Parts: sequence; structure tokens; C-alpha cells
Amino acid sequence: MSRKKTTILTLHEKKARGEPITMVTAYDYPSALAADRAGLDSILVGDSLGMVVLGYDSTVPVTMEEMLHHCRAVRRGAQYAFLIGDLPFMSYQADRAEAVRNAGRFVKEAGMDAVKLEGGRAMADTVAAIADAGIIVVGHIGLTPQSSARLGGYRVQGKTAADAQRLLEDAEALQVAGASLLVLEMTPDRVAETISRHLRIPTIGIGAGAGCDGQVLVLHDLLGLFDRFTPRFARRYADLFATMERSLAAYRDDVVGRRFPTAEESFPMDETEWQKWASGLTSEPPR
Ligand code: KIV
Repeated sequence: MSRKKTTILTLHEKKARGEPITMVTAYDYPSALAADRAGLDSILVGDSLGMVVLGYDSTVPVTMEEMLHHCRAVRRGAQYAFLIGDLPFMSYQADRAEAVRNAGRFVKEAGMDAVKLEGGRAMADTVAAIADAGIIVVGHIGLTPQSSARLGGYRVQGKTAADAQRLLEDAEALQVAGASLLVLEMTPDRVAETISRHLRIPTIGIGAGAGCDGQVLVLHDLLGLFDRFTPRFARRYADLFATMERSLAAYRDDVVGRRFPTAEESFPMDETEWQKWASGLTSEPPR
């Protein structure tokens, strides 16, 4: 059977059938191509790119232009996955009309299928405005990295009964406002599972246990590409940073030791043409 482009309906049908939804972040053409070929349902161009690709200390400095640049590269690599672009900090919080315009840029200029934004009931009107403009919106509650300073750092959210209830009400408010998917980040597994059962829309967990309707991981955590830390909840499937460092050191050693390039890695010149040219050279070229 030929593979079809994943749509928001595909993801909702998966929830209805109880089939897990698979999502990973990607930030460029090769990682998007690999995720698409691996059969991931969805790719999130997360603002985590600020940390894992651009080397910022947090996601706060990421700009709209940086996000759009990476979204366009992902779009060129992914043919089938459902593509979500992350609205960066201060592109949607200050002004609802600006939020709609910025969301529109992800769809119109970067070919995204949906946009994601962080926040609970306080963002419900913004979610409604973007959804009313015909754009698919993904909510994000629990740990919301753009406001981690206000949350006291990267901490598990919803650990008390009152906080868990607040998260459930946030989730319901976002669903009513028109969100089509919901990311739950760093919440106790029982809280995430309960929220997932209460909602009609699929939940995608990251550090939120096995009871969500799907899972997302940051590509660089999964591949071992981030040098600073790997969150406790992430599973590492490779150690590509070490592979990259070893490969670069081997290349450097080969160049210094004159083992690279070999004749097989060079282009020969026709002997007659070489003789014609070399015999006309008046002096040895300087080395
Ligand atoms: O930016 C990101 O990668 C995210 C995920 C952690 C969900 O928002």
C-alpha cells in the first residue's frame, strides 16, 4: 500500500484506535528526511533548536526568522510526516493579532501543517483566534520551557492534587478553544494518563509516562548529539556526538599524516594533456 501524507485526522484516528502516535523533533533537511523514512507520524520543529542547534542557554532568544529558516529545511526533507512549527517566545504572548499573523507565516512561508504554543487557559483566546484563522494549533502544558524561569526551572509540573487539577482544567480549556493536539511535558505519569483519557484530542507526552496517546523526544537527546545533558526521561539510541568527534579527529590525523586524499580520492589528468601543459611550464610552481 502506498504511503499517504499524515494529517490531523490520521492522528485523531490513531487515538480512537488506541494506536500510539510517534513524534520527534527535527531541525534540518537530513534529520527530517531520516525521520520521514523511519516512518515517524509527525515532526516537531521545536524551539529546542535554540539550545541543541544554535547553542543558546535556553529557548527564550529564538526568533521567528530562525524558526522559519529551520522549518523550511524540514519541509524540504519530509514528504509524509505531519509537520508542526513551534511559535517562539514573544511571537504570540503580547498581542492576539500578531499571534495569528506569526502562526500564518509558519503555514504560508514554511509549509508547516500546524503550529504549537505554550500555556494553559491564559492562552485559550489566542488558540481560538489562530484556529479561527484556519490553522491547526497544538497546545503545550506541564513544563513550558519558555516560562521555566517563572516555574522555578525545569521541574516536574502537576505533582500536587491542586496542580494536577489545574493542569486538567488547562487541558480542557485548550481543547474547548480549538487545540487539535496537546503536548504534556514533565508531568507525573498518572496525571498525564488521566488528562489523556479526559480529552478527545490526542496528547503527546515528553517525560509524561506511557499513558499519553503519543510520545515525542528531542532528536539530539535520542541520538546523543547534545553535549550538555540528557534529561532523565529521554532514551538515548545512539552516541552520535562521540562518533562525530572521533570521525573528525581521524580525518584531521589523516590530513596531517598525508593519508588523505589518496589517488582514488583525486581526479587524474589525461597523460597527453599533462605532458603538453607540463612541458610548457617555465619554472617549478612555488609550494
Ligand atoms: O521545543 C521542543 O522541542 C518542544 C518539545 C520538548 C515538546 O517543545
